[in-house]
Amino acid sequence: MHDGSGRILVQNLSKNFGPVSAVRDLSFAVHPGVVTGFLGPNGSGKTTTLRMVLGLVNPTSGAATVNGVPFHRLRNPATVVGAVLEAQSFHPSRTARNHLRCYSAAMNVPDQQVDHALDLVGLSNAADRGAGGFSLGMRQRLALATALLGDPQVLILDEPANGLDPEGIAWLRGFLKSFAASGRTVLVSSHLLREMEHTVDHVVIVSRGQCVYNGDLDQLRAQQRSRVLVQAGDPTALVNGLQAAGLAVELVPDGRIAVTGSDSRSVAELALQAGVAVYGMQEEQVDLERLFFQLTSGQYVGGRFPPSGGPQPPGPGGWGPPGGGANPYEQHGGFGGGA
Ligand SMILES: Nc1ncnc2c1ncn2[C@@H]1O[C@H](COP(=O)(O)OP(=O)(O)O)[C@@H](O)[C@H]1O
Ligand SMILES: [Mg+2]
Repeated sequence: MHDGSGRILVQNLSKNFGPVSAVRDLSFAVHPGVVTGFLGPNGSGKTTTLRMVLGLVNPTSGAATVNGVPFHRLRNPATVVGAVLEAQSFHPSRTARNHLRCYSAAMNVPDQQVDHALDLVGLSNAADRGAGGFSLGMRQRLALATALLGDPQVLILDEPANGLDPEGIAWLRGFLKSFAASGRTVLVSSHLLREMEHTVDHVVIVSRGQCVYNGDLDQLRAQQRSRVLVQAGDPTALVNGLQAAGLAVELVPDGRIAVTGSDSRSVAELALQAGVAVYGMQEEQVDLERLFFQLTSGQYVGGRFPPSGGPQPPGPGGWGPPGGGANPYEQHGGFGGGA
């Protein structure tokens, strides 16, 4: 039974492990109906925060609530929150179906929910295979199926894309979006913005345990608006013409004019109207990844970023549109209704 809220609230949360300040005065809210990305480099306190939300770690100070109460006070937690924290271990010879049956029995949810969960994560065909032989991607799906057994209102996933191939990530993207679209809450962490860029609506970005951005991803993109760089015969005349059209302009050190909030075609037309010759024009693209590095760079003062040896963002080839990603919620009628 859902109470209709599904809100996660983190208020002034801090956690020290001895001298290590893992989370510092962190506050944010996670709402139903959208996918919220919890982003930050490795070691920035994401897992610790999620563990505090799930009542697995005691905060040094501050509080986290789900549906207005601390996790341990939820009456039937498995039906409120489904969580996958890290690659879970499975009894190697136990089949996927039997693995889920152990949990469904413990959670007191009906057996048919096992097949429904397997179906949702696309594991129906592997239901009777031993989980020991599963690939990493299949293990992730099985862990997700476990989290879905209680038909939860809130889904919390810690780095679910780790170990998934591009197809698995595309599938996960569709899955999370449809889960959220059904009015439920999704909080998903990642150390790679690019991995989540097309999945999340709202982002909370942390660096060294502190929040450095909390808002819509679109707003973050807008902050980093693309610019048109123009090389003009008469810069002063062009600046006057652009400003008269209400555009924000500035001179960059190499003598070019940087125009924000427009595109090259409009700038060219305004130059023509102003009778100014244009010798060159270049559109700067928004680079969200670079912005993410800037926001979180304090974590690696004096070091390289991303830190050497750390996971690298995948190459551009692996990030096609989610076209092939099946949408299990749409396919199966899914979780609509929220009863
Ligand atoms: N149980 C623990 N004992 C000591 N230090 C910990 C413990 N858990 C996490 N930390 C430290 O807290 C910081 C944040 O870790 P973590 O929450 O795992 O970050 P993330 O999930 O963003 O990679 C790191 O410096 C980590 O080493
Ligand atoms: Mg982590």
